[in-house]
Amino acid sequence: MPSIFSKAPAKIILFGEHAVVYGQPAIALPMTTLSSKVSILGNPLGNPNEVRIIAPEIGMDDFFHNLPEDDFFVTAITLVMNHLNIDQYPACEVRITSTIPVASGLGSSASIAVSLLRTLFAFLGKSPNNRIISNLALQLEKIHHGNPSGIDNSVITFEKPIYFIREKPVEFIQVKKLLTLIIGNTGIGSTTKESVSIVREKLQTNPIKINQLFQEIGSISKEAKIFLETGKNKLIGEKMNQNHHLLQDIGVSCSELDHLVTAAVNAGAMGAKLCGSGLGGNMVALADEDSIDQITSALRDAGAVQTYITTIKP
Ligand code: PMV
Repeated sequence: MPSIFSKAPAKIILFGEHAVVYGQPAIALPMTTLSSKVSILGNPLGNPNEVRIIAPEIGMDDFFHNLPEDDFFVTAITLVMNHLNIDQYPACEVRITSTIPVASGLGSSASIAVSLLRTLFAFLGKSPNNRIISNLALQLEKIHHGNPSGIDNSVITFEKPIYFIREKPVEFIQVKKLLTLIIGNTGIGSTTKESVSIVREKLQTNPIKINQLFQEIGSISKEAKIFLETGKNKLIGEKMNQNHHLLQDIGVSCSELDHLVTAAVNAGAMGAKLCGSGLGGNMVALADEDSIDQITSALRDAGAVQTYITTIKP
């Protein structure tokens, strides 16, 4: 019996992380160089609900019924069954793999949520629309993140650049000019939940300052949307630098991220900033095509444990 599978990309937040949790606009891009993949192979001899879940990267090989109710994979299967109004899932083997580094701001959990949900539906002959997949993925994200804005599941489900405001319909951005992005990984793991809760504490202790920073970030996202739509890449780069400084002021950067951002800019990037929840993880630099090698080797020299290149085509 052939297995069925689906893939989902990683993502980059180009503008507006953290502020987006509090209602400010943000911009995110799909990053197709990295992806998660989920495949399902039916087991015609097995009993209903005998679902084996194998995720080698996290050392998981267990059955649905042995796992706790709030487990990520159990929740995914339960969400699918509830959505379809069924109480049994056919016996099968679900295999999850991913090239997206975990806890590093590239949307690894949202990507797995999307590819897992799509495959779980497809195995039952169903293919719900993107809006349904994105909403279900957001529910799954809540297990890991507590209070996700919804930007990760949206950009990963739709696989298009998005302008995102919490609880509003997703707007798509048509970029006018090719974007070449270089991503540098500090190698420092950081969880979204933790950094989101640090920001929440800062907001509680210093609401005037932090709200002001959120508003400035929101204005950057608004301006950057226009620059993306009109092909003003140099100005996009400037806005990335400004956004990074505001994230530093909020307190979600770290010396390793700052070091990579500075290295990229000194090597000729039009702009650079941390991407995702920060306190480790990855940064992103906007490059001219002819400065890719220079920026990549500067990032390596500055301590990036991995670098990736991705493009967004007009
Ligand atoms: O999941 P991460 O680490 O890529 O960050 C998501 C972006 C945040 O704005 C920090 C959180 C959110 O839910 O929007």
